[in-house]
Amino acid sequence: MKPTQLESKDGRKIATRHANPKDARDLHNGFRQVVEEGLWLPTLAPNASVADWVTWIQRTNHCREVLLVAHVDDLYAGHLTLQPEEWTASKHVAKLGIIVLSDFRNIGVGRELMLEAETAAIEREFAKIVLSTFETNSMALSLYESLGYQVVGRRVRHFRMPKGFIDEVLMEKVLNV
Ligand SMILES: CC(C)(COP(=O)(O)OP(=O)(O)OC[C@H]1O[C@@H](n2cnc3c(N)ncnc32)[C@H](O)[C@@H]1OP(=O)(O)O)[C@@H](O)C(=O)NCCC(=O)NCCS
Repeated sequence: MKPTQLESKDGRKIATRHANPKDARDLHNGFRQVVEEGLWLPTLAPNASVADWVTWIQRTNHCREVLLVAHVDDLYAGHLTLQPEEWTASKHVAKLGIIVLSDFRNIGVGRELMLEAETAAIEREFAKIVLSTFETNSMALSLYESLGYQVVGRRVRHFRMPKGFIDEVLMEKVLNV
């Protein structure tokens, strides 16, 4: 995947590329901020350090994992991860995770990261992407559906969040390879 650049819905510059170790602090802080919102992720306290992020980013240079980062007008705005499934027979399947900082939501950053993830996934010989989200995450559900992800299941009362139980919605997309 080559670095990309396009205009956001409100005229700002969205750039995406593979992460490098200098991005570690941004990725660490970004993840922490979204976890602290307490609404979107089933993690209540981030436990990775900046050094862990450096290690993870470096690992993506010599394995099939992908870590993409997005900037809006040169400010870190969010990132996306792809990780292969563990089973030998499902190594063609990548698990996707994504966050966009609240200040940069709803202007097209998530869509751009998701589209570039498909290119990166095909380059790393994945044939399918799977993800899951909270039933309450209407922005994520609408974005994924608009990109061709299909709901393939629901785990009822799967997460116990501070405000109560939440169903997990399972989605997937088979790539055209
Ligand atoms: C979910 C998330 C990654 C989407 O990224 P984003 O940059 O905000 O998404 P985009 O701006 O590219 O697209 C959002 C889409 O949702 C739509 N949308 C906005 N608010 C919505 C709502 N309340 N209900 C339904 N759709 C909504 C927008 O219109 C847009 O669709 P369009 O491109 O067809 O107009 C981001 O909001 C986020 O990080 N949220 C918190 C963390 C999170 O939920 N991570 C994913 C966990 S599975």
